[in-house]
This record gives sequence, C-alpha cells and structure tokens, in this order.
Amino acid sequence: MSAASNALAHHWMPFTANRAFQEQPRLLVRAEGMHYWSHDGRRILDGASGLFCCAAGHGRPEITEAVTRQLSELEYVPHFQFGHPGSYELAARLARITPDDLDHLFFCNSGSEAIDTALKIAMAYHWARGEGHRIRFVSRERAYHGVNIGGTSLSGIMRNRDCFGAVLPNVVHMRHTLGDGPRFVRGQPETGAGLADDLQRFCDLYGGHTIAACFVEPIAGSTGVLVPPKGYLQRLREICDQYGILLVFDEVICGFGRTGRAFGADSFEVTPDLMTMAKALTNGAQPMGAVAVHEKIWEAISAGAPEETIELFHGYTFSAHPAATAAALATLEIYEREDLFQRAAELSPYFLDRMFELAGLPGVSDVRGYGLLAAFDLAPEGTPGTRGFRSLRRLYDEGLLIKWTGDTGIIAPPLIAERDHIDELASILRRVLSQG
Ligand SMILES: Cc1ncc(COP(=O)(O)O)c(C=O)c1O
Repeated sequence: MSAASNALAHHWMPFTANRAFQEQPRLLVRAEGMHYWSHDGRRILDGASGLFCCAAGHGRPEITEAVTRQLSELEYVPHFQFGHPGSYELAARLARITPDDLDHLFFCNSGSEAIDTALKIAMAYHWARGEGHRIRFVSRERAYHGVNIGGTSLSGIMRNRDCFGAVLPNVVHMRHTLGDGPRFVRGQPETGAGLADDLQRFCDLYGGHTIAACFVEPIAGSTGVLVPPKGYLQRLREICDQYGILLVFDEVICGFGRTGRAFGADSFEVTPDLMTMAKALTNGAQPMGAVAVHEKIWEAISAGAPEETIELFHGYTFSAHPAATAAALATLEIYEREDLFQRAAELSPYFLDRMFELAGLPGVSDVRGYGLLAAFDLAPEGTPGTRGFRSLRRLYDEGLLIKWTGDTGIIAPPLIAERDHIDELASILRRVLSQG
C-alpha cells in the first residue's frame, strides 16, 4: 500500500504493528477521569493509566492550568549554565519524597533517557574515585530499561535486543525472578531470594571490583509484573555494599504510588544509590524523566572538578523544561493533597482479589500482582503474541484498554479508581477471556 492511500501511513508508530493498525486503527480522541473516548465515540475504561503514566486520572485541570500559566510566562530556558525557579522547587520537592540521601535530581525527558543518564552518572562516580576499571554492568533477564542504546543493552527482552542489544559491552544478566517458582502468587513470593546470588556469582567470575552498577526494576513491570521474592532486593543491596557496586532502581513504573508507597524502594524497604523515574512524574501530561542521585555520588563527582568547571558532561536541550516542571509540580501537589499513594495501598487488596479471580479462565496460566499493578499470562496459541494481540483488540472493542506484552496482559489502573471501576475492569476481562 502506498503511503498516500492511507491517511495514517506517515506516522511510523512505536512498538506497534503498523500495517494492522492502519487497517483497523484505535484512535483515542478525549480523556477524563478513568476513561478515554475513541474516535468512533465509545467510552474506554483505562486499565493501564495510559502507559503507567496517568496515576491521578485524566484531564486534571490543575495540571492543565499550571502548564498553560507556565507557557504564557516563560516557555523555554536553556538549562546549560542558566536556570528557572521551577526546576529547583521541583528538585527539592522530589528530594523530600525520595528515600534517605537521594537528594540530587538530574532531569531529562523520558524513562529511557533517565536510564542512560544513570549509566553515565554511575561511570562518572567510579571514574572520579579512581575506579574507572569498573566497566561491567549487571542487569536481569526480562528487564525493560527503555530503548536508548544503554537501556537496550541492559534490557533482557530478546526481541528488543535482537539487532541492538550488544552495543554496550560488558553487560551481564542475572536470571529473572519468575523461573520455575510457584504460579498464582499474590504479592511477594516466599521463595526465590537466592536468585540474587547470581550477582555474587558475577562478582566471583569477573571480580566485584570490575562491576560499576546493578540495575533492577523493583517490580519488573513491562514484561509482566515480576514481583521480587521476599529478601531478594535486600540480598542485592548486601552484595552491592560488599563490593562497592552501585545499586540502581528503575522506578519508571513503580514510582509515584503504584506499589502503595511513593516508590518501590519504600514498599520493599531497600534504598538504592540511584533511582530513575518518569511516566507518572507529570501524570503523563508532559514528557519528563529524572534520576535521583545519592549524596555520596554527587559529592564524589563534584569534588573531582574544580569549582568553575562543569561536573558532568551530560544533559538535554529539554532537561527540566519549564512546562514539564510545572506539570510535575502540579502533579505532586495532587498526589499529596488527595493522598493517592495511600489510596492505592487501601484499594490494593480489593483490586488483587478481582485480578486473582481471573485464575481458572480459559488459557490463563498465571496471575501476579502487587499494589495496583497486576498481570496475567495466557498460554500462547500458535505464534507467541498472537493470542495477546487478539485479546487486546477484543478488550478494546468491549471498552477496556490494558497493556500487553506478548501473551501477557498488564493492568495498572489510575490510583483514583473506585471499586466500581475495578469491578467493571474485571468483568470485561472475564467476559473476553471466557471466549478463549
Ligand atoms: C522500567 C522502565 N524503565 C524505562 C522505561 C522507558 O521509559 P520511556 O518509554 O519513557 O523512555 C520504561 C517504559 O515503560 C520502563 O517501564
């Protein structure tokens, strides 16, 4: 088909079956609260907070007003050697909710940029301390750390790595935490903490002194909600401490209440050295990412540079963009005023009850969940992903949007959800999955 024959053909869409989409598009034209509206006028329940972004629900006027005000006053500032007041206020506000000593914030525009920024900060830290020989990074199978070159190499998804994965050398992957363990486990599995000893094995094999950082999502989100076994993250922390390895939590999905606390680090009571965030930071209203950096890392990097020289040769034209900053400040204000993280914690048992009732439906081979985040696996039929794609279309036709990775459906409703929304979500899922 030539581009001219289809009005949608010019936009090469991300992570999309473009040709199938052009034949049967799913266009969303409006959103409010818990719902989207489709181009054909149907109301679609948002079971994925957009893409884990819109935690406070859609169309929040406070955010729109803050962004509008900011744009009419000051639409852009070059952030290299200049600044604007909002970014300092945002950094200070984030520092108040990030764990202990993760008090320095570096801003970027997405989760992928946050990951590559964290990689560079980790390298700069070791370099500044005379440990530039730490050239290895540890990540995990089934990890998703975005799509920039560093993050792609860290990721543990075969299709994402296929042509690009080996660009960053010296990345080794621990096993993921689902393995042969029990299925249909609600919350943290009791067993599996020993999988963290994969990191110990890498230390034994390569020398812990050659490893710069270990990257993990507290809950591996995009590949299907792999909840860390009890004690697993604690064990990673111990090994990192023993060998001077930086522990990086990728909180791009877990951050801002998804686990019932501000961050996965809070829920699982493990403090990393670096933390990436994006998505719900602005409630999805503006693109923004950030890295929270431990005091000791800032100290080491800045101490190594004379006062009038740049400490870190890294940054983006749109780092701390005024409109994104305004959106983030308004978003954090909503989270606090409406106590949304606590609300997520309170709704979680009801949500998980409904999600675990999916067990027993045709083809459902596992259900997992924590906080307001859950996933179910469908046994593949034919080519892996075909059944998932078919279910995505059917659910959308029935008025529900959730996230799919292959044959795994992922549910992450906005934190403002009421029990009725959860009931509706579960009943659409049951209806569609019952068809097999
Ligand atoms: C854990 C994690 N890290 C990084 C990213 C990449 O974020 P972005 O798509 O904003 O670049 C994602 C996106 O889903 C993610 O889930």
